[in-house]
Amino acid sequence: MTTFGLPAECGRFIQYESSEDLRQLHQTGALKGALHIGGGSNLLFTTGRYDGTVLHCANRQYNLSTPDGNGKVRLEASAGCILDELCRICAERNLWGLENLSGIPGEIGGAAVQNVGAYGAEFKDVVEHVTVFDTETGETFTLSNEECRYGYRDSIFKHMESPGKLIVTAATILLDTSPHPRLDYAPLKKLFGDTPLLRPTPMMMRDAVILLRNGKLPDPRKTGSAGSFFKNPVLSKQRHELMESVLNKEIPGHVTSTGDIKLSAAWLIDQAGCKSFSCGGASVWQTQPLVIVNATGDAAGKDVVTLECMIIDAVRQAFGVELSPEVIHV
Ligand code: EPU
Repeated sequence: MTTFGLPAECGRFIQYESSEDLRQLHQTGALKGALHIGGGSNLLFTTGRYDGTVLHCANRQYNLSTPDGNGKVRLEASAGCILDELCRICAERNLWGLENLSGIPGEIGGAAVQNVGAYGAEFKDVVEHVTVFDTETGETFTLSNEECRYGYRDSIFKHMESPGKLIVTAATILLDTSPHPRLDYAPLKKLFGDTPLLRPTPMMMRDAVILLRNGKLPDPRKTGSAGSFFKNPVLSKQRHELMESVLNKEIPGHVTSTGDIKLSAAWLIDQAGCKSFSCGGASVWQTQPLVIVNATGDAAGKDVVTLECMIIDAVRQAFGVELSPEVIHV
């Protein structure tokens, strides 16, 4: 159930289909303290045994509306839908919105919680609202995009007073029938933006994104990982300048919408000399050192945790920057 492919058992595993199922589980008290998983692409079970209950949505139903007067199409997708399958379905129908997120492993529920992102796009750019089930009150309601308080790999769901209080059961995604290519990511801009005659379609964008991913990231069918293991650290402009002057070195980063500087964790890890690090069956992925892989196929959770600590220590020593994991530790 997780893309890392590390051995882990749980106390109880419950798969459900609908909000009605959740209501019944709520009445029996089975949802209390349960851990909800999606595609398991951002989870690390640190030991081989988790005594609690693990919940998973098995519902993969979706519905595409007809275009409204503004050429917008609404895609209502249940939490268990595979994100990449929806990316393909939309690209095949020439619908704009999900193409840059192609190839990201995981399900819609996880994408809505995690605000997944890649190649200049984030889930928050396309989600209109999400439907949630409150495990404390047993109610179902919707939250608008704004109410989800999305940030970089962040949302309101990560800041609940009791973790797991709200379960995302579905998301409504707003798609466009008119061309809307997002070319902020330099290699995509180079491919399409600098060649005005080459008008990309959603499928061309999807193909380009998948090619870029394949060039850098491990194939999830062959090598277990959780994608980016760490977040790209964000520093104030002053702190970035100070860091560059103390180290007498240019530290690459992008200016964010708030004027802060988002550093490249991959670059920091590479420059700190961590590419050769490994522990047990876990090692650093050579073409994208932000990714920790289950290299031998039989790594244990503790190998990954030890390697994570080795990388955090090395980057702290080299740059004084504290990396924080994107992957959720259970
Ligand atoms: N780099 C190195 N050494 C290397 C490889 C890369 O220094 O060996 C540096 C290069 O400077 C490169 C930079 O890393 O330009 C950035 O690499 P990349 O373009 O792959 O982007 P990223 O910031 O490292 C983020 C997301 C990825 C997403 C890519 C592409 C995070 C934590 N990660 O990585 O998301 O695919 O951008 O948009 O924000 C994921 O979340 O699982 C994930 C894979």
